[in-house]
Amino acid sequence: MNKLSHRYTTIQKTIRSHDYEYYILDDPSISDQEYDELFRELKQIESKHPDWITPESPSQRVGIKPENDFATFKHFQQMLSLANAFNAEDLKNFNDRILKNLGTDKQIDYFCEPKMDGAAVSLIYEKGILTKGVTRGDGTIGEDITSNIRTIRSIPLTLKESESSFPDLLEVRGEVFIRKSDFDALNQRANKNGEKVFANPRNAAAGSLRQLDPAITSGRPLAFFAHGIGLCQGKEFIDLQEIFSVFLSWGLPVNSLNKLAVSVDECLKYFQEIESSRDNIPFEIDGVVFKVNELTFQKQLGQIARSPRWAIAHKFPAEEALTEIENIEFQVGRTGILTPVAKLKTVNVGGVNVSNCTLHNLDELKRLDPRVGDVAVIKRAGDVIPKMVRVIPKKKNRANAVEAPQKCPCCHSPIVLNYQSEWTVIDSSKSKPVKKFASKYEAQKFLETNQSISLNISEEQLDTPFIKCSGGNNCPEIFQGKFTHFVAKKAMDIDGLGQEILFALINKKFIKDFADIYSLKEHRAELEKLERFGEKSVDNLIKSIDKSVSVELYKLVFSLGIEEVGETTARNLANVFGSMEAIQKSSFEDLIAVPDIGPRVAAKISDYFCDDENTASLETLLPCLHIINPDIKTSNKDMKFFGLQIAITGKISPMSRDEVKNLLMSEGAKVTSSISKKTDYLIAGENAGSKLEKAKTLGVRIVDAVDINTFVNDPKKFS
Ligand code: IVH
Repeated sequence: MNKLSHRYTTIQKTIRSHDYEYYILDDPSISDQEYDELFRELKQIESKHPDWITPESPSQRVGIKPENDFATFKHFQQMLSLANAFNAEDLKNFNDRILKNLGTDKQIDYFCEPKMDGAAVSLIYEKGILTKGVTRGDGTIGEDITSNIRTIRSIPLTLKESESSFPDLLEVRGEVFIRKSDFDALNQRANKNGEKVFANPRNAAAGSLRQLDPAITSGRPLAFFAHGIGLCQGKEFIDLQEIFSVFLSWGLPVNSLNKLAVSVDECLKYFQEIESSRDNIPFEIDGVVFKVNELTFQKQLGQIARSPRWAIAHKFPAEEALTEIENIEFQVGRTGILTPVAKLKTVNVGGVNVSNCTLHNLDELKRLDPRVGDVAVIKRAGDVIPKMVRVIPKKKNRANAVEAPQKCPCCHSPIVLNYQSEWTVIDSSKSKPVKKFASKYEAQKFLETNQSISLNISEEQLDTPFIKCSGGNNCPEIFQGKFTHFVAKKAMDIDGLGQEILFALINKKFIKDFADIYSLKEHRAELEKLERFGEKSVDNLIKSIDKSVSVELYKLVFSLGIEEVGETTARNLANVFGSMEAIQKSSFEDLIAVPDIGPRVAAKISDYFCDDENTASLETLLPCLHIINPDIKTSNKDMKFFGLQIAITGKISPMSRDEVKNLLMSEGAKVTSSISKKTDYLIAGENAGSKLEKAKTLGVRIVDAVDINTFVNDPKKFS
């Protein structure tokens, strides 16, 4: 009997020590099977001697289910929240206030920690034994979630004996969280079982803690880091550094990324380090926290409202945000394609207010299934446009799924599926396909060169996830969109033709075609009579139109709004063909030989120049312009930056950012705004920030913007 009871205590101790090795030291000394074996033995003894079981036994993590709701619990010491800093200046001001309040000009130490994106809890240990786990609640009163807290395996039910004696009573403050990989697995499982998926790891952690049945909580991959202390009776500490090292010795998990900084500059360095390694950190963080290290200073500084004066959270720009979907509209673009767009209750994501979010096409709409009243998870990374990551369906009275419209919301023309056509030349005498083409033009050319009475062309329409307004130029949205694109900065750059003036001139039928823009000055007197068109505004308009007459070929090509022809393709066309005439005459084969142009894009381009309306429009437009043709680059090798991906950051001078971008692109570079492993060079100007840091960590070659001329002339010097 005595022997068995001794064995029982030994097993308990052994299991605890393995828990410590696993959760604190991250260095287990036994296999999972050996651990399970110990656990089985423990349970076997307990089944024979139920009277031996105490709540601290490692087997007692999943306890009994509370009856109705959680009991409330008043924290011994309030759980405070943190004030926020969003930039270096906020942080410097925080430091200045502290030094002023402490009456010193000597730098003080700050304890730096990642700001965990989880749920705050308070754990009460009485003489080393976990007696309560409480949610933060409103900071004063929380909910008693002890049974759920006990299921978290990295939270010790009894503190580990160490050189430091246990306080009589100790409130350990910290964060319950879920690692990114565990979160993904959790959601995958939920998805597979048709259960609700969680919006993010924080919601999953908080939701798991509030389960009435601890058995459910125990199945969730919750983890814990201690980040503070509340009431502590029967023990004194000097500073945070000491607290956390004692915590570790007691088996309480503490974040290994924590660090002591001896100045505000070191704090900033810590922020940058953590921000640049954020993607590689296994759990979600939303900033870092700086805390005055010394407890006597903390006491002296006190608190305002609910935040301590001695701590601040330096937040990263938020990357994900939740907001309500107010409506889903279909917007008609200049090509007639209808794009589903979610109208959102405005939300700040990464420092930018977002109230619209494109859903791209019908496939994406079906995948996300957003409905009015649902909550959308919106993500924005760097300069990238906001993206809807997933939708949390409204629980009650959910709206109907969004259906694609039958009529154009603008001109009421029927909506057609935007099929992608494939053209097959068929030998009708043998009823056999001869050759397939991505463009009608090419198929026709094939017919011309292979004259035979039995050859025919047949069109096959392949499905795409896009729908289109069939109204063409009669649809005001399409027509206005075409001209908005034509006058835009990156296109013909006519800044006097802002949207309001442009639409007024379209409505009054002054502008029916591109060339009409260039004959507006002949209608000067009539224009001046129009509402809101004074002498001066007409002057400005005419001046900016005159300025746009002289245009680089690639800009003109881009401004035509040919489907699939963006800025880069327009540049490539201009560089390869050297004149509008040559582009117009180009064959499908010529086009697919251009960098970045495949058969689909080539088909769009040749279709554009085959269309009578387009050729007529160009015939009147071209004589109005003075086109600046580039030197023909007969081969890609003539382009200094061909195939290179270059990013630009910071303030660039004396050339403007656009000038630098143009220069690089005209030599074949792909200029991006974000940095990735694929980036070849980063041009870094003044005040280059996180992109520069990221480039350094990724080993991207960095060119100081002051050396831009040397770089452009001889990039090899920088390799
Ligand atoms: S210290 C008095 N440290 O952020 C200081 N909080 O607004 C109070 N949080 O609800 C908290 N990581 O749950 C501190 N390393 C960290 C933290 C952290 C996350 C949460 C905490 C609290 C909120 C403060």
